[in-house]
Amino acid sequence: MSPTLFFLLSGEHKTLPAAEVRAILECENFDHREFKVIPKLATVKADPGCINTVVRRAGMCEAAGLLIFQCRDVKNEILRSASDPIYSNYLNKGERFSVRVQRIFGSSRHLDRMELQSRIGNMILRSVPESRVDLRNPEKEFIGVIASGRFLFGNLTARRVNSALNRYRPKEGFAPHPSTMKPRLARCFVNLSRPRRGELLLDPFCGVGGLLIEALIIGCRAVGSDLDPRMAREAIRNLRRLGIEPEGVLAADARAIPCPTIRSISTDPPYGRGSSTMGSNPCELLGKFLAEARSVLSPDGFLCLASPSDVGVQVLGYDAGLNVVESHVMRVHRGLVREIVVFTRDRSVRKG
Ligand SMILES: C[S@@+](CC[C@H](N)C(=O)[O-])C[C@H]1O[C@@H](n2cnc3c(N)ncnc32)[C@H](O)[C@@H]1O
Repeated sequence: MSPTLFFLLSGEHKTLPAAEVRAILECENFDHREFKVIPKLATVKADPGCINTVVRRAGMCEAAGLLIFQCRDVKNEILRSASDPIYSNYLNKGERFSVRVQRIFGSSRHLDRMELQSRIGNMILRSVPESRVDLRNPEKEFIGVIASGRFLFGNLTARRVNSALNRYRPKEGFAPHPSTMKPRLARCFVNLSRPRRGELLLDPFCGVGGLLIEALIIGCRAVGSDLDPRMAREAIRNLRRLGIEPEGVLAADARAIPCPTIRSISTDPPYGRGSSTMGSNPCELLGKFLAEARSVLSPDGFLCLASPSDVGVQVLGYDAGLNVVESHVMRVHRGLVREIVVFTRDRSVRKG
Protein backbone atom coordinates (compact mmCIF):
# COMPACT_ATOMS: atom_id res chain seq x y z
CA MET A 1 0.00 0.00 0.00
CA SER A 2 1.37 3.43 -0.96
CA PRO A 3 2.10 5.90 1.84
CA THR A 4 0.59 9.36 1.89
CA LEU A 5 2.89 12.09 0.60
CA PHE A 6 2.59 15.81 1.07
CA PHE A 7 3.62 18.64 -1.25
CA LEU A 8 4.10 22.19 0.07
CA LEU A 9 2.85 24.48 -2.68
CA SER A 10 3.80 28.06 -3.40
CA GLY A 11 1.05 30.51 -2.60
CA GLU A 12 1.27 32.52 -5.80
CA HIS A 13 -1.91 31.03 -7.23
CA LYS A 14 -4.88 29.17 -5.79
CA THR A 15 -5.19 26.26 -8.24
CA LEU A 16 -2.13 26.16 -10.51
CA PRO A 17 0.44 24.72 -8.05
CA ALA A 18 -1.65 21.63 -7.22
CA ALA A 19 -2.61 21.18 -10.89
CA GLU A 20 1.08 21.23 -11.77
CA VAL A 21 1.92 18.52 -9.22
CA ARG A 22 -0.91 16.36 -10.54
CA ALA A 23 0.20 16.89 -14.16
CA ILE A 24 3.73 15.77 -13.27
CA LEU A 25 2.46 12.62 -11.52
CA GLU A 26 0.38 11.86 -14.61
CA CYS A 27 3.03 12.42 -17.25
CA GLU A 28 5.78 10.66 -15.30
CA ASN A 29 3.41 7.70 -14.93
CA PHE A 30 3.34 7.57 -11.13
CA ASP A 31 0.32 5.66 -9.91
CA HIS A 32 -1.48 7.87 -7.44
CA ARG A 33 -4.83 8.17 -5.74
CA GLU A 34 -6.70 10.31 -3.23
CA PHE A 35 -5.15 13.57 -4.45
CA LYS A 36 -6.39 16.20 -1.98
CA VAL A 37 -5.72 19.92 -1.84
CA ILE A 38 -5.97 22.44 0.98
CA PRO A 39 -4.45 25.93 0.72
CA LYS A 40 -0.72 25.66 -0.08
CA LEU A 41 -0.66 21.91 0.45
CA ALA A 42 -1.52 18.76 -1.49
CA THR A 43 -1.56 15.20 -0.19
CA VAL A 44 -1.66 12.06 -2.29
CA LYS A 45 -1.14 8.32 -1.92
CA ALA A 46 1.77 7.40 -4.19
CA ASP A 47 5.17 5.79 -4.39
CA PRO A 48 7.65 8.05 -2.48
CA GLY A 49 9.93 7.68 -5.52
CA CYS A 50 7.88 10.44 -7.16
CA ILE A 51 8.84 13.07 -4.57
CA ASN A 52 12.22 14.07 -6.03
CA THR A 53 10.85 14.06 -9.57
CA VAL A 54 7.96 16.36 -8.68
CA VAL A 55 10.08 18.79 -6.66
CA ARG A 56 12.78 18.90 -9.35
CA ARG A 57 10.29 19.48 -12.16
CA ALA A 58 7.71 21.77 -10.60
CA GLY A 59 7.84 25.55 -10.66
CA MET A 60 5.28 25.98 -7.91
CA CYS A 61 6.10 23.27 -5.38
CA GLU A 62 8.46 24.32 -2.57
CA ALA A 63 9.09 21.01 -0.81
CA ALA A 64 7.66 17.55 -0.20
CA GLY A 65 7.90 14.50 1.98
CA LEU A 66 6.15 11.65 3.76
CA LEU A 67 3.06 12.40 5.80
CA ILE A 68 3.36 10.89 9.29
CA PHE A 69 -0.03 11.84 10.72
CA GLN A 70 -2.83 14.33 10.34
CA CYS A 71 -5.67 15.35 12.63
CA ARG A 72 -7.95 18.24 13.55
CA ASP A 73 -6.42 21.53 14.74
CA VAL A 74 -7.09 20.66 18.39
CA LYS A 75 -4.08 20.76 20.71
CA ASN A 76 -4.83 17.59 22.68
CA GLU A 77 -5.64 15.69 19.53
CA ILE A 78 -2.39 16.82 17.92
CA LEU A 79 -0.30 15.79 20.93
CA ARG A 80 -2.10 12.45 21.19
CA SER A 81 -1.55 11.77 17.47
CA ALA A 82 2.09 12.86 17.74
CA SER A 83 2.74 10.26 20.46
CA ASP A 84 1.77 7.32 18.18
CA PRO A 85 4.28 7.24 15.28
CA ILE A 86 7.45 5.19 15.35
CA TYR A 87 9.89 8.01 14.66
CA SER A 88 12.80 5.60 14.21
CA ASN A 89 11.20 4.81 10.82
CA TYR A 90 12.28 8.32 9.78
CA LEU A 91 15.27 9.14 11.99
CA ASN A 92 18.30 6.97 12.77
CA LYS A 93 19.97 6.60 16.15
CA GLY A 94 22.23 9.60 16.85
CA GLU A 95 20.93 11.77 13.99
CA ARG A 96 20.34 15.53 14.19
CA PHE A 97 16.83 16.69 13.41
CA SER A 98 14.61 19.77 13.31
CA VAL A 99 10.89 20.24 13.92
CA ARG A 100 9.22 23.31 12.46
CA VAL A 101 5.56 24.14 12.53
CA GLN A 102 4.12 26.60 10.05
CA ARG A 103 0.76 28.25 9.87
CA ILE A 104 -0.86 28.77 6.46
CA PHE A 105 -2.69 32.06 5.89
CA GLY A 106 -3.05 32.75 9.64
CA SER A 107 -5.07 29.54 10.29
CA SER A 108 -6.02 28.32 13.79
CA ARG A 109 -4.54 31.15 15.84
CA HIS A 110 -5.43 29.30 19.04
CA LEU A 111 -2.54 26.90 18.40
CA ASP A 112 0.91 27.92 19.66
CA ARG A 113 3.44 26.91 16.98
CA MET A 114 6.45 27.08 19.31
CA GLU A 115 4.79 24.92 21.93
CA LEU A 116 3.88 22.28 19.33
CA GLN A 117 7.41 22.34 17.91
CA SER A 118 9.02 21.80 21.27
CA ARG A 119 6.56 19.18 22.57
CA ILE A 120 6.68 17.09 19.40
CA GLY A 121 10.47 17.57 19.28
CA ASN A 122 10.71 16.14 22.81
CA MET A 123 8.61 13.12 21.84
CA ILE A 124 10.99 12.41 18.97
CA LEU A 125 14.03 12.86 21.25
CA ARG A 126 12.59 10.33 23.69
CA SER A 127 11.73 7.79 21.01
CA VAL A 128 14.99 7.80 18.98
CA PRO A 129 18.12 7.05 21.03
CA GLU A 130 20.89 9.66 20.99
CA SER A 131 19.03 11.85 18.49
CA ARG A 132 19.64 15.61 18.83
CA VAL A 133 17.72 18.74 17.89
CA ASP A 134 19.65 20.91 15.43
CA LEU A 135 17.59 23.59 13.75
CA ARG A 136 20.48 24.95 11.66
CA ASN A 137 21.99 21.84 10.23
CA PRO A 138 19.60 18.92 10.64
CA GLU A 139 20.10 15.57 8.94
CA LYS A 140 16.34 15.01 8.99
CA GLU A 141 13.57 17.61 8.90
CA PHE A 142 10.09 17.28 10.34
CA ILE A 143 7.42 19.77 9.50
CA GLY A 144 3.99 20.49 10.93
CA VAL A 145 1.48 22.47 8.92
CA ILE A 146 -1.58 24.18 10.38
CA ALA A 147 -4.11 24.78 7.61
CA SER A 148 -7.86 24.80 7.05
CA GLY A 149 -8.77 23.40 10.48
CA ARG A 150 -6.22 20.55 10.18
CA PHE A 151 -2.75 19.76 11.49
CA LEU A 152 -0.49 17.73 9.21
CA PHE A 153 2.89 16.41 10.31
CA GLY A 154 5.51 14.89 8.05
CA ASN A 155 9.11 14.12 7.27
CA LEU A 156 10.31 16.59 4.68
CA THR A 157 12.61 14.81 2.22
CA ALA A 158 13.00 17.19 -0.75
CA ARG A 159 13.24 20.94 -1.18
CA ARG A 160 13.27 22.95 -4.37
CA VAL A 161 16.65 24.37 -5.41
CA ASN A 162 15.75 27.96 -6.23
CA SER A 163 18.82 28.69 -8.33
CA ALA A 164 17.60 26.23 -10.97
CA LEU A 165 14.55 28.41 -11.52
CA ASN A 166 16.02 31.87 -11.27
CA ARG A 167 17.43 32.60 -14.66
CA TYR A 168 17.28 36.38 -14.28
CA ARG A 169 20.58 36.59 -12.48
CA PRO A 170 22.73 38.88 -14.65
CA LYS A 171 25.69 36.49 -14.77
CA GLU A 172 23.58 33.94 -16.62
CA GLY A 173 22.85 36.51 -19.33
CA PHE A 174 19.23 35.75 -20.17
CA ALA A 175 17.69 38.78 -21.91
CA PRO A 176 13.95 38.72 -21.19
CA HIS A 177 11.40 40.65 -23.24
CA PRO A 178 8.58 42.54 -21.44
CA SER A 179 6.22 39.76 -22.61
CA THR A 180 8.38 36.98 -21.15
CA MET A 181 6.67 34.89 -18.52
CA LYS A 182 8.17 34.59 -15.04
CA PRO A 183 10.15 31.35 -14.76
CA ARG A 184 7.88 29.63 -12.22
CA LEU A 185 4.79 30.26 -14.30
CA ALA A 186 6.58 29.24 -17.49
CA ARG A 187 7.68 26.00 -15.79
CA CYS A 188 4.12 25.37 -14.68
CA PHE A 189 2.86 25.90 -18.28
CA VAL A 190 5.38 23.37 -19.52
CA ASN A 191 4.32 20.82 -16.91
CA LEU A 192 0.61 21.32 -17.58
CA SER A 193 1.20 20.23 -21.17
CA ARG A 194 2.54 16.99 -19.66
CA PRO A 195 5.72 16.28 -21.66
CA ARG A 196 7.64 13.20 -20.58
CA ARG A 197 11.39 13.43 -20.12
CA GLY A 198 13.12 13.25 -23.51
CA GLU A 199 9.92 14.14 -25.35
CA LEU A 200 9.49 17.12 -27.62
CA LEU A 201 7.59 20.23 -26.51
CA LEU A 202 6.54 22.91 -28.98
CA ASP A 203 6.03 26.62 -28.27
CA PRO A 204 4.68 28.15 -31.52
CA PHE A 205 4.62 31.71 -30.08
CA CYS A 206 8.02 31.33 -28.41
CA GLY A 207 9.05 34.99 -28.09
CA VAL A 208 12.56 35.10 -26.64
CA GLY A 209 12.33 31.50 -25.42
CA GLY A 210 11.05 31.60 -21.81
CA LEU A 211 8.99 28.40 -22.05
CA LEU A 212 11.58 26.59 -24.17
CA ILE A 213 14.21 27.16 -21.48
CA GLU A 214 12.02 25.63 -18.78
CA ALA A 215 11.25 22.59 -20.94
CA LEU A 216 14.94 22.03 -21.67
CA ILE A 217 15.93 22.44 -18.00
CA ILE A 218 13.59 19.62 -16.95
CA GLY A 219 15.02 17.26 -19.54
CA CYS A 220 12.56 17.60 -22.42
CA ARG A 221 13.53 18.45 -25.96
CA ALA A 222 12.07 21.70 -27.23
CA VAL A 223 11.25 23.38 -30.50
CA GLY A 224 9.99 26.93 -30.86
CA SER A 225 8.77 29.28 -33.53
CA ASP A 226 7.77 32.93 -33.73
CA LEU A 227 6.48 34.98 -36.63
CA ASP A 228 8.96 37.71 -35.77
CA PRO A 229 12.43 36.55 -36.93
CA ARG A 230 14.09 38.92 -34.43
CA MET A 231 12.31 37.11 -31.57
CA ALA A 232 13.35 33.72 -32.94
CA ARG A 233 16.97 34.89 -33.20
CA GLU A 234 16.87 36.28 -29.65
CA ALA A 235 15.44 32.97 -28.38
CA ILE A 236 18.37 31.10 -29.94
CA ARG A 237 20.81 33.59 -28.39
CA ASN A 238 19.17 33.24 -24.96
CA LEU A 239 19.28 29.47 -25.04
CA ARG A 240 22.93 29.47 -26.13
CA ARG A 241 23.87 31.95 -23.38
CA LEU A 242 22.47 29.45 -20.90
CA GLY A 243 24.36 26.65 -22.61
CA ILE A 244 21.26 24.73 -23.71
CA GLU A 245 20.36 23.73 -27.24
CA PRO A 246 16.81 23.46 -28.60
CA GLU A 247 15.92 21.05 -31.39
CA GLY A 248 15.21 24.14 -33.43
CA VAL A 249 13.84 27.69 -33.32
CA LEU A 250 12.28 28.99 -36.52
CA ALA A 251 10.57 32.08 -37.85
CA ALA A 252 7.11 30.68 -38.65
CA ASP A 253 3.41 31.43 -38.34
CA ALA A 254 1.57 29.54 -35.58
CA ARG A 255 -1.36 29.16 -37.99
CA ALA A 256 0.82 26.85 -40.13
CA ILE A 257 2.91 24.88 -37.65
CA PRO A 258 6.00 23.44 -39.38
CA CYS A 259 5.99 20.31 -37.28
CA PRO A 260 4.60 16.77 -37.57
CA THR A 261 2.46 15.25 -34.80
CA ILE A 262 3.40 16.41 -31.32
CA ARG A 263 2.28 15.43 -27.77
CA SER A 264 2.94 18.67 -25.86
CA ILE A 265 2.28 22.23 -26.93
CA SER A 266 2.69 24.97 -24.36
CA THR A 267 2.41 28.59 -25.34
CA ASP A 268 1.40 32.16 -24.56
CA PRO A 269 -0.11 33.69 -27.72
CA PRO A 270 -0.05 37.49 -28.07
CA TYR A 271 -3.04 39.39 -26.72
CA GLY A 272 -2.30 42.49 -28.81
CA ARG A 273 -1.41 44.45 -25.65
CA GLY A 274 2.12 43.85 -24.30
CA SER A 275 3.10 41.61 -27.21
CA SER A 276 2.32 42.10 -30.88
CA THR A 277 -0.06 40.01 -32.98
CA MET A 278 1.80 41.47 -35.97
CA GLY A 279 -1.31 42.96 -37.50
CA SER A 280 -3.79 40.12 -36.92
CA ASN A 281 -7.02 40.29 -34.96
CA PRO A 282 -6.12 38.53 -31.64
CA CYS A 283 -9.35 36.46 -31.57
CA GLU A 284 -9.06 35.33 -35.17
CA LEU A 285 -5.40 34.49 -34.66
CA LEU A 286 -6.28 32.41 -31.59
CA GLY A 287 -9.12 30.57 -33.39
CA LYS A 288 -6.92 29.70 -36.37
CA PHE A 289 -4.05 28.67 -34.12
CA LEU A 290 -6.34 26.36 -32.09
CA ALA A 291 -7.52 24.62 -35.27
CA GLU A 292 -3.91 24.20 -36.39
CA ALA A 293 -2.87 22.95 -32.95
CA ARG A 294 -5.67 20.36 -33.10
CA SER A 295 -4.33 19.11 -36.42
CA VAL A 296 -0.79 18.54 -35.12
CA LEU A 297 -1.62 17.36 -31.59
CA SER A 298 -1.34 13.60 -31.12
CA PRO A 299 -4.49 11.85 -29.82
CA ASP A 300 -2.95 11.59 -26.32
CA GLY A 301 -1.46 15.09 -26.52
CA PHE A 302 -1.99 18.22 -24.43
CA LEU A 303 -2.05 21.90 -25.26
CA CYS A 304 -1.63 24.50 -22.50
CA LEU A 305 -2.16 28.15 -23.31
CA ALA A 306 -3.19 31.46 -21.80
CA SER A 307 -5.56 34.07 -23.09
CA PRO A 308 -7.42 37.09 -21.68
CA SER A 309 -10.44 35.76 -19.80
CA ASP A 310 -12.93 37.77 -21.88
CA VAL A 311 -11.87 36.06 -25.12
CA GLY A 312 -13.70 32.83 -24.36
CA VAL A 313 -10.80 30.54 -25.25
CA GLN A 314 -12.65 27.42 -24.04
CA VAL A 315 -15.38 27.99 -26.63
CA LEU A 316 -12.82 28.75 -29.36
CA GLY A 317 -11.03 25.53 -28.46
CA TYR A 318 -14.26 23.56 -28.49
CA ASP A 319 -15.09 25.00 -31.93
CA ALA A 320 -11.67 23.83 -33.09
CA GLY A 321 -12.49 20.29 -31.89
CA LEU A 322 -10.45 20.36 -28.68
CA ASN A 323 -11.57 19.25 -25.21
CA VAL A 324 -10.97 21.18 -22.01
CA VAL A 325 -9.08 19.22 -19.35
CA GLU A 326 -8.69 22.05 -16.85
CA SER A 327 -8.89 25.83 -16.60
CA HIS A 328 -7.36 28.35 -14.18
CA VAL A 329 -8.07 32.04 -13.81
CA MET A 330 -5.19 34.39 -13.02
CA ARG A 331 -5.46 38.10 -12.31
CA VAL A 332 -2.39 39.79 -13.78
CA HIS A 333 -3.34 43.43 -13.09
CA ARG A 334 -6.48 45.57 -13.06
CA GLY A 335 -6.85 45.51 -16.83
CA LEU A 336 -5.91 41.88 -17.48
CA VAL A 337 -7.27 38.61 -16.17
CA ARG A 338 -5.78 35.57 -17.84
CA GLU A 339 -7.42 32.22 -18.36
CA ILE A 340 -5.01 29.32 -18.54
CA VAL A 341 -6.56 26.33 -20.26
CA VAL A 342 -5.30 22.82 -20.88
CA PHE A 343 -6.83 21.10 -23.89
CA THR A 344 -6.56 17.60 -25.22
CA ARG A 345 -7.83 15.74 -28.24
CA ASP A 346 -8.63 12.61 -26.26
CA ARG A 347 -12.16 12.71 -24.88
CA SER A 348 -11.38 10.00 -22.32
CA VAL A 349 -8.92 12.22 -20.43
CA ARG A 350 -10.06 13.29 -16.94
CA LYS A 351 -11.89 16.61 -16.65
CA GLY A 352 -10.71 18.59 -13.60
C1 LIG B 1 3.44 36.74 -25.38
S1 LIG B 1 4.74 36.59 -26.53
C2 LIG B 1 5.46 35.05 -26.06
C3 LIG B 1 6.33 35.16 -24.87
C4 LIG B 1 7.06 33.86 -24.54
N1 LIG B 1 6.12 32.84 -24.08
C5 LIG B 1 8.14 34.07 -23.49
O1 LIG B 1 7.93 33.75 -22.29
O2 LIG B 1 9.21 34.58 -23.84
C6 LIG B 1 3.91 36.26 -28.02
C7 LIG B 1 4.81 36.12 -29.25
O3 LIG B 1 3.99 35.74 -30.37
C8 LIG B 1 4.59 36.24 -31.55
N2 LIG B 1 3.61 36.18 -32.64
C9 LIG B 1 2.64 37.08 -32.99
N3 LIG B 1 1.89 36.60 -34.00
C10 LIG B 1 2.36 35.37 -34.30
C11 LIG B 1 1.98 34.35 -35.21
N4 LIG B 1 0.95 34.51 -36.06
N5 LIG B 1 2.68 33.19 -35.22
C12 LIG B 1 3.73 33.00 -34.37
N6 LIG B 1 4.15 33.94 -33.49
C13 LIG B 1 3.47 35.10 -33.44
C14 LIG B 1 5.09 37.61 -31.15
O4 LIG B 1 6.13 38.00 -32.01
C15 LIG B 1 5.54 37.37 -29.70
O5 LIG B 1 6.91 37.13 -29.64
